[in-house]
Amino acid sequence: MDHTVFNRMVESLSQNRLVLPAFPQAAMRAREVASSDDASAISVAREIAKDPALSARILKVANSSLFGFSFNTGSLQHAISRVGLEHTKTLVTNFALMQLMNPPKGAYGNLIRTVRDHSVEVAALGYVICEKGKAFNANKALLGGMLHDVGYLPLIQFSKSEPESVLSDPGFLPGLKDLHGQAGNLLLMYWQFSPELVDVVTAHESLECNPESDVSLREVVAFANALVNAPDPDAASLLTQSALAAKLNISEISDADLERKDEVIRFFA
Ligand SMILES: [Fe+2]
Ligand SMILES: [Fe+2]
Repeated sequence: MDHTVFNRMVESLSQNRLVLPAFPQAAMRAREVASSDDASAISVAREIAKDPALSARILKVANSSLFGFSFNTGSLQHAISRVGLEHTKTLVTNFALMQLMNPPKGAYGNLIRTVRDHSVEVAALGYVICEKGKAFNANKALLGGMLHDVGYLPLIQFSKSEPESVLSDPGFLPGLKDLHGQAGNLLLMYWQFSPELVDVVTAHESLECNPESDVSLREVVAFANALVNAPDPDAASLLTQSALAAKLNISEISDADLERKDEVIRFFA
C-alpha cells in the first residue's frame, strides 16, 4: 500500500487524532437502556421505535422461523419479549454495524463491503462453532464476530479522499492489518462497549489460548476469524487440530456446519 497514506495514518493514530465514526444514536440508546438494571421490553421498545428501519428489523427477526412462533406480532414490545433483552441488544448492535458499513459505490465502498462481508461470515461461523462445541454463548459470538474488524472502518474513512488507484490496490486492506486492532480498541472505548468486546477487537488476530481458563469471546472470534481467513482446506484442518479448537470442543468443520453458517447469515445479516 501507499506509504505516505500509511505513515499519515500511523501519525494520526499515535497522536490520537484519528476521526472515529459515531455509533447510530437510536441503537446506542437502546443498548444503554437494555443494559440498565431496570431494563424492560417497554423501555427498550420506546428507544428502538425512534428508528423505523431498526424497528422493522427487530420485528422481522422476532417473526422469523428462527423463534418458531405460530403467529406474527406487529408490536415491538412483544417482539422484544419474544427475542429476549440480551438477544435484542445483539440484534440492535448488529443492525447498527450494518448501517455503519453500508458501502457507497466505488473503490472506497468496496473496501467497506469487504470488511462487512468478512465480519458477517466470521460472526456466523463463530455462532455455529458455539452451537456445535457448546463451549460458549452463541449469541455473544455473533456480536463479537460482527464487531471484530470494526477497527478497519476509521482507517478506511481516513483514506476516503485518496485516489481510486490507491484504494483499489489489492494490498490496501492487508496493509492496514497491523493498525486495525489499535484503531478498533480506540473506537470501542469511544463507544463505551464492554471490556470483553474491547478485547475481541484488539486481540482477535492472536490464536493463543490458556487451556486452564474459561473460554473467552476473544478465543471464539479468533478461531472463527482464522478459519474464515484460512487460505486452503489443509490450513483449515490444521486449525481444527489446535489447542484452541480442543478448548472449543471442535475437531472438524463439516459441510453441514458450513450450510448452517450460511443459514445463520441469512437470518442475521
Ligand atoms: Fe482482524
Ligand atoms: Fe477478521
